[in-house]
Amino acid sequence: MEKLPAAAAAAGDQQRIALPAALARSYNASRVRTIVHFLRELRNTGAVAPSSRHLVAAAVSQLKSHVSAHPERPLKILELGPGTGVFTKEIIAAMRPQDRLDVVELSERFFSIVHSRFHGGNVRVFHMDVLQYEGAGGYDFIFSSIPYEALPAEISTAIWRKKQALARADAHIIYYKYVNPTPFRSSYEREMVRRHLVGRRIIWRNMPPARLFTLRLDRFNLPATSRTALAQMA
Ligand SMILES: C[S@@+](CC[C@H](N)C(=O)[O-])C[C@H]1O[C@@H](n2cnc3c(N)ncnc32)[C@H](O)[C@@H]1O
Repeated sequence: MEKLPAAAAAAGDQQRIALPAALARSYNASRVRTIVHFLRELRNTGAVAPSSRHLVAAAVSQLKSHVSAHPERPLKILELGPGTGVFTKEIIAAMRPQDRLDVVELSERFFSIVHSRFHGGNVRVFHMDVLQYEGAGGYDFIFSSIPYEALPAEISTAIWRKKQALARADAHIIYYKYVNPTPFRSSYEREMVRRHLVGRRIIWRNMPPARLFTLRLDRFNLPATSRTALAQMA
C-alpha cells in the first residue's frame, strides 16, 4: 500500500479524476497521461501539471554554474518529490560521472515512472516519504518540489528539519512554491528563508507561476543577535 504523509492519509482515499475529452484531444498522448497522473495524485502533488521547462532550467542552472566553478569536486545531490521526473532528467544531464543523485518519491505511481527511467549507476530512486528517508546525508544540493502549502505547518517544519539534517553545512537548497499572497504556512520555513536566502525569482512561465528560492546554509542574512531565532524554534 502506498505510504501517505499524515495530512494526505487523513484526507481519505484518493479520488479518480477523468480528464475532459476536449482537453485530452488538444494535447498529445504523453502530455495527457502526465496531467492525468498529476490530477490523480492531486493531494500529494498540490499541482495540476509538471513544472515548466523554464522553471526547471532556472533551478538546475545553479547546479550547472556550481559544476563549472568547481569542476573536480564530486557532488551529492538529493531530489525530493520528482513527480514524473522533469527536474530529474535535467539534473542528470548536468551531472558528471563522479556525482551522485538520490531521489525520494512518495507516490507509487510517480516512483515507478522515475525508477524505470532513471534508476541505476550513480542515480538511486527510493519509494518513501521523505520523513522516513534515512540517507547518509552530506548532500551538496537539495532540490525539493514538496508542496509545503498543501501540508499542515508541523509536517512542513518536520520536512525542513529533515532537509537540514541531510544537508552539508554549505549546501544549496533549491525549491519552488506557487505564487500566493501568504507564501509561508510554516514559520520555521519563513525563518530558514529569512536567514539563508541567496536568490529568489518568480517564474511566470509556469502553471501556475512559481517562486523559485535558493538557500545557502552557510550564508547568513540576519544580524548575529537574530540568529538564535531558529534554534529557539527547534
Ligand atoms: C508539485 S509535485 C512536483 C513534481 C515535479 N518535481 C515537478 O516539479 O513537476 C510534488 C511531488 O512531491 C511528492 N511528494 C509529496 N509529499 C512527499 C513526501 N512527503 N515525500 C516524498 N515525496 C513527496 C509528490 O508525490 C509529487 O511527486
